[in-house]
Parts: sequence; structure tokens; C-alpha cells
Amino acid sequence: MQISGCTALVTGASRGIGATFVEALISKDADRVYAAMRKPVETDEPRVVPVDLDVTDVSRVRALAEELDDVDLVINNAGLLYMEGALTAPLDRVREQIEVNYVGLLAVSQAFSPVLAANGGGAFVNVLSVGSFIGGPPFGPYAASKAAAWAVSNALRIELWSQKTQVVGVHVGLVDTDMVAEIDMSKHHSGEAGKLPPGDVVEAALLGLENGESEVLVDPYTRHIKSALGEDHALIYPELQLAYNDLRS
Ligand SMILES: NC(=O)c1ccc[n+]([C@@H]2O[C@H](COP(=O)([O-])OP(=O)(O)OC[C@H]3O[C@@H](n4cnc5c(N)ncnc54)[C@H](OP(=O)(O)O)[C@@H]3O)[C@@H](O)[C@H]2O)c1
Repeated sequence: MQISGCTALVTGASRGIGATFVEALISKDADRVYAAMRKPVETDEPRVVPVDLDVTDVSRVRALAEELDDVDLVINNAGLLYMEGALTAPLDRVREQIEVNYVGLLAVSQAFSPVLAANGGGAFVNVLSVGSFIGGPPFGPYAASKAAAWAVSNALRIELWSQKTQVVGVHVGLVDTDMVAEIDMSKHHSGEAGKLPPGDVVEAALLGLENGESEVLVDPYTRHIKSALGEDHALIYPELQLAYNDLRS
């Protein structure tokens, strides 16, 4: 799908990767970008329209899809991470991550699929994670929510094929945003080179979108982890054990 001339909705547009998507879509000549935020703020750019959206509020999600009937690109970006291991994470926070990262993405996808169909098919770009493929402390419950979002993105791609809607899953390791601000890379020996600038993620995602791809593995670490899943677990899990031990120390 071409970005020039499109009308996009970006969830979680207040900061980080979402705010970067908004800027990049405008610079690539999108006609209009609805910047969905829990607390909308006005902007000087006339093509950016702030809208109010908490992705866990399903009735608001559905009402927004009725209002924004010109959307042909949805960036499912809103996300939540609590840095907690699976053994100790409070279950209410486990549910909260599932609600935002998985159920929220699915609710937006269900509500906007008919809108995309009416506008020629369009696309969903789902911001996932290397955590879709692996998870250890302090990312276990978060990773499970991203694995669920990955699985349902794959299911949606099949269900949306007949209406010509492209579904792009974007997977990436650590990105330099508020979400992982507390991670000190000098203690991190997982094989990740460093935190990626949000602009690199957005560029790779939008290139994948324009090239008709279904999955974008942004960084070498994510590509390594996904390819290693096809190997013996006895090979990859010792490596991950060491990486997560570093993170906990
Ligand atoms: N940073 C990383 O290392 C990394 C790596 C892989 C994938 N990702 C994914 O990238 C996406 C963007 O994350 P980021 O790094 O830009 O993190 P961020 O700076 O923490 O931004 C998260 C965004 O999601 C919004 N959000 C959270 N809960 C929401 C809800 N219930 N409804 C609507 N919006 C909500 C936040 O809004 P408020 O401002 O209102 O809180 C904020 O705009 C997420 O899906 C994340 O899982 C991040």
C-alpha cells in the first residue's frame, strides 16, 4: 500500500514510536493522520487530527470507527510494559498488558476492518516485538501479550485477505523510548547492539508496508531470535538464560 494520499489512524500517538509514526506519515505525504491519544493535544500541523482513544474502551473504539469512515491505514501501536517476571508479576498487571497489547489491538482491528474494506482494503500495521518470539525476566507477561498479538495478527491476515487488507507485523528489540528507559544497555549482553531510535523502526515498518510485506523484522537481534526458533531449543535457551541473567544483575 502507498502512504502518499492515505488517511491513517495511529494509536498510542502521544509519544515514542507512535508520535514518530505520525511525523513520518506526514512527511511521506499522507492526506490526514488521526493521532489517537488518551489525552489528545492540539498540533500546528493541519493534516494531524488529534482524537481521544483508550484502546481498552471497546465502546469508544467502535464509536471512533463510525466517526472516522475515511481511514485506510491503521497503525496499531499503543502498548504497555510492566517490567516483571512471570513468577512474580501481579496478575492484575498481567491482565492489563493483555488488555492493551492484545485485546486492544484486536478491538481496533475488528472495528476498523469494515472501514478499511469500504476504502479499498488498506492495511493494518501492528507494532509487535521480539517478545512475540521469546520472553524472560523482566518481560515474561509482556512477551506473552505480544505473542498473542502476533498470533492474532496472523489470523487476521488470513481473514482479511479476501477484502484485500494487508496486515504487517512489525517485530523489534529494544527501542529508545520511555517504555524501556530504565534498562541500562551497559549491563545487557543479549546480543542486542543497543536501543534503536524510534525513527528506524518506523522507517522499516513503512518500507515493509509499501513493499507489500506481511512481516518486518527490524533489527539483527530480532532476525536472529526468530530464525533460531527453528533450531533446537537446547541451542537457544542457554543463550537467553545468560542474557536475562545479565538484565537481572
Ligand atoms: N520501546 C521498546 O523497546 C519497544 C520494543 C518493541 C516493541 N515496542 C512496542 O512499540 C509500541 C510503542 O511503544 P513505545 O516504545 O513508543 O512506548 P511508550 O513511549 O511507552 O508509548 C506507549 C504509547 O502507548 C500508549 N498507550 C498505553 N496504554 C494505552 C491505552 N490503554 N490506550 C491507548 N494508548 C495507550 C501510551 O499513551 P500514554 O501517553 O497515554 O501513556 C503511549 O502513547 C508498543 O506497542 C510497544 O509494546 C516497544
